[in-house]
Amino acid sequence: MSKKRIRIEGREFEVLLSSRRISRRVREISATLSEEYKGKDTLILPVLNGSFIFAADLIRDMDIDTEISFIKIASYRGTTSGFDPAELIGLGTDIRNRHVLILEDIIDTGTTLSKLIGKILEYQPASVRTACLLFKPEANITNIKPDFAGFEIPNDFVIGYGLDYNGYGRKYKDIYVLVTEG
Ligand code: IMP
Ligand code: MG
Repeated sequence: MSKKRIRIEGREFEVLLSSRRISRRVREISATLSEEYKGKDTLILPVLNGSFIFAADLIRDMDIDTEISFIKIASYRGTTSGFDPAELIGLGTDIRNRHVLILEDIIDTGTTLSKLIGKILEYQPASVRTACLLFKPEANITNIKPDFAGFEIPNDFVIGYGLDYNGYGRKYKDIYVLVTEG
């Protein structure tokens, strides 16, 4: 049977991870994180825009109540090569001596995460760790790896469950991969 396909901005995508698989994995990660952060002064920092659905599902499933502050990295369209610390928006709360958990939708080259961690470490938190839904190990050009990763995927472009192609495709419950014909 052929896989379910959708079309976004003239491109074809087919299902890579079903919503059932994603939900199951999100519940596993939330159970792990609930144990890891139980009794700790924790601040969860989901990175907008892509992590909004992952963060909402994951955090609501966790057994612990923590402070949550969404952060955003202002970037120029078409630029993927990281950011200037001045372009980090939303880190208003004090993080010194607190346990920081960054939530990312996907770690691709790792550049964004590596710079973000560098910036957060300047504020002397008790710890900084990262949970991401998707990790592309082949694309990673840094020595930074997520501490908690939902799925390791090939180095292909994906959308859905928060991830976008030119701003579209975030709403889908499944995750789809770009179909390259031929
Ligand atoms: P990195 O700095 O290369 O790790 O890129 C991280 C950011 O690029 C992610 O937070 C996403 O916003 C975006 N990104 C990387 N790969 C994909 C993809 O396959 N689909 C959609 N967005 C992606
Ligand atoms: Mg992102």
